[in-house]
Amino acid sequence: MGMDSGLMGDHGPPDPSAVARPDERDVEAVRARAYREAASAKRRVYAISHDGRRYMVKQSAPGRTLPRALGGAFLVRILAGHWPRLAPLRLGEAEQLHYEASRLRGLADDGQQVPRVVLVSDDHLVMEDVGPPLTQVMRSLTPAGQADLIFRVAADLADFHRRGHWHGGAQLRNHTRLHDRLYRIDFEEPLDQTLTLGSRQAMDLMLLVHSVTAVKAFVGRHRHALCCELIDQYLANSPPAGSLEVLRQSQRIKRRLKKSLGWARRWTGKDLERIWLTTEAVEAVMPRLAADRHDSAF
Ligand SMILES: Nc1ncnc2c1ncn2[C@@H]1O[C@H](COP(=O)(O)OP(=O)(O)O)[C@@H](O)[C@H]1O
Ligand SMILES: [Mg+2]
Repeated sequence: MGMDSGLMGDHGPPDPSAVARPDERDVEAVRARAYREAASAKRRVYAISHDGRRYMVKQSAPGRTLPRALGGAFLVRILAGHWPRLAPLRLGEAEQLHYEASRLRGLADDGQQVPRVVLVSDDHLVMEDVGPPLTQVMRSLTPAGQADLIFRVAADLADFHRRGHWHGGAQLRNHTRLHDRLYRIDFEEPLDQTLTLGSRQAMDLMLLVHSVTAVKAFVGRHRHALCCELIDQYLANSPPAGSLEVLRQSQRIKRRLKKSLGWARRWTGKDLERIWLTTEAVEAVMPRLAADRHDSAF
């Protein structure tokens, strides 16, 4: 018999809860709490506490409806220059939670700043709370402080991309700050099933710029300057050649689109207006992109 038999004789059969490592017990307690609090949760993502620590629970949700997926595809087409397949844009429910969990685990294993996954089931994903989203952090900053934070995010994105990663939802609201460190959250878009790495990275930058066009402290030419400086900060931090190449290509597509849709500009809603602003910022920085061309592998 094994070495344990003597001990078993002394102490009786092992208590199943004692067999579990302490953190596994914590996981079960967190799971129970997540289920208990799901009923009263007001949002799809809600906070819970256990043993003095805060966690965020993300519940499963249906994927996009066909019209919404088409809208998403149009945005990808404009921002990254490609028509994506619709199926990945329609991912939802358990599959989407497991997808996000595996992305988070992969990035954490690579030393990236993302929340640690505590557990994932078909109903929910529980992860560490990594602080308030930047959109909230910015409310207590001066406009200059907001701009600095945005530039830091842009430089950080170039670094993330250079290491071969991509976000898929790089809007400001999908970044958080905790103990003065930036974290990325929200990895539920399986764009790797439909876009090349360069396209996904270019899309990240465009989504970041697009989200910055909604920052209220900056309007008119200040907003334009902010977006241009953001792109400059990205370019100045050695992003990968693949991303730059897609930015150049998609800009050509956008220029054509703009020409053919330009007349409609003042009739279209705020959403399209923000896409134009994003496009204009890239266009203004294009000479810089062209100058960097000799550095690129293309
Ligand atoms: N790990 C986390 N730490 C802190 N806040 C989070 C975390 N995950 C989600 N949140 C908060 O919940 C919001 C929605 O979560 P997110 O993953 O971005 O889902 P959605 O797909 O609804 O945008 C975020 O904007 C953020 O405020
Ligand atoms: Mg989000």
